[in-house]
Amino acid sequence: MHKTQPGYRRFSSLIHLMVFFKPYKIRILLAFIVLIISAIATLVLPVAIKLIIDQGYLLQQHELINQYFILLFAIVVVMAIFSATRFYLVMWLGERIVADIRSKLYQHILTMEPAFFETTRTGELLSRLTTDTTLVQSVVGSGISITLRCSFLLAGSLIMLSVTNLQLTGLILIIVPLVILPLIIFGRRIRRLSKKNQNLIAESSAIAGETFNAIQMVQSYLLEDFYSQCFNISVESAFMTARKRLMARALLAAFAIFIVFSAMMAIIWLGAQWVLVGKMTLGELSQFLIYAIMVATNSAALSEVWGDIQRAAGAMERILELLKSQAKIVSPRQALLIPASKLEAIHFKHVFFMYPSRPEQHALHDFSLNIAAGETIALVGPSGAGKSTVFQLLLRFYQIQQGNITLGEVDIAQANIKQLRQACAIVPQETSIFAASVMENIRYGKPEASDDEIRTAAVAAAADEFIHRLPDGYDTFLGEHGIRLSGGQRQRIAIARAILKNAPVLLLDEATSSLDAESEKLVQDALQHLMQNRTTLVIAHRLATVLRADRIVVMNHGKIVAIGTHQQLLEQKGLYARLAALQFGELY
Ligand SMILES: Nc1ncnc2c1ncn2[C@@H]1O[C@H](COP(=O)(O)OP(=O)(O)OP(=O)(O)O)[C@@H](O)[C@H]1O
Ligand SMILES: [Mg+2]
Repeated sequence: MHKTQPGYRRFSSLIHLMVFFKPYKIRILLAFIVLIISAIATLVLPVAIKLIIDQGYLLQQHELINQYFILLFAIVVVMAIFSATRFYLVMWLGERIVADIRSKLYQHILTMEPAFFETTRTGELLSRLTTDTTLVQSVVGSGISITLRCSFLLAGSLIMLSVTNLQLTGLILIIVPLVILPLIIFGRRIRRLSKKNQNLIAESSAIAGETFNAIQMVQSYLLEDFYSQCFNISVESAFMTARKRLMARALLAAFAIFIVFSAMMAIIWLGAQWVLVGKMTLGELSQFLIYAIMVATNSAALSEVWGDIQRAAGAMERILELLKSQAKIVSPRQALLIPASKLEAIHFKHVFFMYPSRPEQHALHDFSLNIAAGETIALVGPSGAGKSTVFQLLLRFYQIQQGNITLGEVDIAQANIKQLRQACAIVPQETSIFAASVMENIRYGKPEASDDEIRTAAVAAAADEFIHRLPDGYDTFLGEHGIRLSGGQRQRIAIARAILKNAPVLLLDEATSSLDAESEKLVQDALQHLMQNRTTLVIAHRLATVLRADRIVVMNHGKIVAIGTHQQLLEQKGLYARLAALQFGELY
């Protein structure tokens, strides 16, 4: 996380908000006009009151009193209508802009490469999307409205004060800096505390997210107390920083109220003396007092909202940090098109690769492999050999450090990522099922697929039978992460998805590992059929799968140790022979 420099940067993050305001220029202008009109109406009010007191009561002109009251009434109506309009327009802007920020943030996060998600916890990202944006909303909505209105009223009432009585105004001007200075000093502290507070809240969301996702594991290992404690610690520290923040704000409020109101009392006292000696009329003093009260209440409101703005600036800073973090793996600006006819040939040339989070260990070491179009390659090797890594690199989830990978003779680093990923259908080692119906879950393979196509794919994946036994068949809702399915059922849904995608390259990462022998045979036959016209890379631990491959690639510690057919490899009596003896047992 990057460090924040206090001082000059404090507002720059809120200035970045401007980009989000751009589409709503006309509304902003309208809100501004309405705001000014309602403020002017408020500012005119004391003048009308002065006129009523001085001319009406003191000079006993009853006709004038009536007229002035009608004027007063008109002002009140204008105030009411325009204040309400201002409220609506400004709050609308707040909601609208935060909705935009949320969508943009989500869209942005989705472009980030897997390595980003390895270092950032999901709960934290969710907290950015929800609590941080809500904080910004408080400022964009009411915050800006209050700031604008109060600054306008403050300036207006100060001007009107000096028009009413210059000497008394001088007194007030001495006081204003006394209020503003602590505002700035406390504001900095509040912002720092608020940022810390939000980080701690994000941390607690992260803990909650992780445990909810692994609830069975938490419960079976009796980790409830442990995690409750972890959660409690982070909630408590969030509370502690919130408390400090509140303290700073309370001190600020006490200070502001004290200065402002004692100054007011001094002025009233002085004014009263002047009225007594005839230096000022009663109406003038009343007018002056009302303006003075406006100065006081508006500066108090400003000091209140200042704290909120500081909080939101902290939140906005974190949102911007996220928005600024650029995805490292993107399509080059002038991406090369992979010729459709050649999509199937894959070449790995001297690929060296280390995971960003583990830079000291090569996950792939001088990995070279030429795969012809239509070929079926089996990758075998002990756990951690780097088999899944090969798939991840082919899909360009990570940047390789040396060498290159080509698909259809185009370096995948030069290709359009969308075209590359469109060309590959993967059944990953860990299947992902979304909180949607069976139908929708399979449809992710090909969003425009018809229901019939989906059923055909499900039949091919030997999934149709169990889907029919689900309570609502294809419309059964699967729950988050597909927790309402067995491992093997999930795998068959994932296979159906890949079958539906019908891509030139098929990547199977232990796709049938959770299936019973019978289902596996069914799925194998379906896959066999599917493999015929495409290039297939299959990671397998079972002999049946391996035997069907054209070539078997044996991997260990990120290196290829042997390539050949089952028979050739057995004769070499190397790692493969040992693996085969252990894994395939009596079968060979
Ligand atoms: N995201 C990651 N960050 C850091 N290291 C990783 C990451 N994924 C895998 N590794 C490491 O890279 C090596 C190769 O992992 P890989 O997943 O390719 O193994 P595998 O051959 O698929 O094993 P298995 O048969 O258990 O699935 C392992 O040592 C693993 O610890
Ligand atoms: Mg693996």
